[in-house]
Amino acid sequence: MNIAVFASHNGSNLQAMIDAIEKGSLAASISIVISNNSNSGALERATRHNIPGIHLSSVAYPDVDDLDEATLQALLDHETDIIFLAGYLKKIGPKVISQYDGKILNTHPALLPKYGGKGMYGMNVHKAVIEGKENKSGVTVHLVNSEYDEGKILTQAEVPVLEDDTPDILCERVMARERGFIIEVLNQIHKEELVL
Ligand code: GRF
Repeated sequence: MNIAVFASHNGSNLQAMIDAIEKGSLAASISIVISNNSNSGALERATRHNIPGIHLSSVAYPDVDDLDEATLQALLDHETDIIFLAGYLKKIGPKVISQYDGKILNTHPALLPKYGGKGMYGMNVHKAVIEGKENKSGVTVHLVNSEYDEGKILTQAEVPVLEDDTPDILCERVMARERGFIIEVLNQIHKEELVL
């Protein structure tokens, strides 16, 4: 299973995948890392682990169709089976969506359909969960379509929200679970226990 990972920032989820593959607990390979951010930790992590990494953004491709086409070409060149969005903040173009229909996954740090959609990323999500006085949050892995956070939910993991939680503390707890959960989910896909 060749996974293309898209990530915009730190890439701790990407790192969890790299570590799991290197330890032998995930039977997959990361064929390419794509980032819209040339300074992302994700691209640095790719370089450190000898994984091809490319910066693809509107800087080099001001026309959205050209960017979509270049992204598709990179995915095909690297024989991508599935795409995993791990903290990727840009929309995926229609050509990539149609070529990889049903094979693009995103991880979201809350229990969708609540706390998703435009603007719901990073710490905004955890702040909103606390302000919403939820007693649980979690991780959602879902399919990606052309709208933010609206594709079919594949699976979720719950994480408690504790009384004294700040957004930072909740974020840490959710992300710790997320790093393990995405490996579980990818293994389920590999074993066809979860069918895309
Ligand atoms: C993760 O919590 C993911 O769910 C969200 O953005 C965060 C990315 O963190 N979409 P990282 O870049 O993998 O460290």
